[in-house]
Amino acid sequence: MKLILASHNPKKIAELRSLLAECLPEAEVLPPDAVGLTGEVEETGATFEENALLKARAVSQGRYIGVGDDSGLTVDALNGEPGVWSARFAARSGLAGEHDDAANNRLLLERLREVPDGARGAAFVCCIACVLPDGRSFTVRGEVRGSILRAYRGAGGFGYDPLFLYAPLGRSFAELTPAEKNAVSHRGVALRGFAARLARELAGGAPGD
Ligand code: IMP
Repeated sequence: MKLILASHNPKKIAELRSLLAECLPEAEVLPPDAVGLTGEVEETGATFEENALLKARAVSQGRYIGVGDDSGLTVDALNGEPGVWSARFAARSGLAGEHDDAANNRLLLERLREVPDGARGAAFVCCIACVLPDGRSFTVRGEVRGSILRAYRGAGGFGYDPLFLYAPLGRSFAELTPAEKNAVSHRGVALRGFAARLARELAGGAPGD
């Protein structure tokens, strides 16, 4: 049973492979080029779910279990921005090239400069979509709440991690070890939910349960 993850990132492939090894050992997790798919899917959706489904459908091809993901940061005081534009937040305002984490973080700090401490809530969101060979599909969403700091903290992680304060541990995401982050992050929650849901679907569970 071939499962194609719509990503050319070897770390993402390895992560899903090791996660599914236990609960779904018959799933062979492969990158798109292993089955001759080389194109990139344009993320034209208005929601994380739509983008994840676009990617999953593009690699399913009616033959494979297609899996796609989309993630980002939603900030309460910015009405959910940057949202699906998280990777291209600064680029969209003409402030930087395509995907520039440093410029994105500078813009986030700037946009929240006047926002008081009590109103700086935010969430990281990760959506994983799956399209089965028979066309059935489902999505799983993981979220983690936090708040946006006024200055960078920590050197780990990537993207907006140094500005995301995770209150239960009193540290930013960039100050957590990878295992600590994985235990609570939007991506960890979504991936574990996805593994459980896929196992149920393949065992004959009805979609939507
Ligand atoms: P994607 O690759 O289209 O899912 O875009 C995700 C973007 O959202 C990244 O480029 C980051 O800017 C942001 N993002 C998603 N997850 C995280 C995270 O765990 N930490 C920091 N930034 C994240």
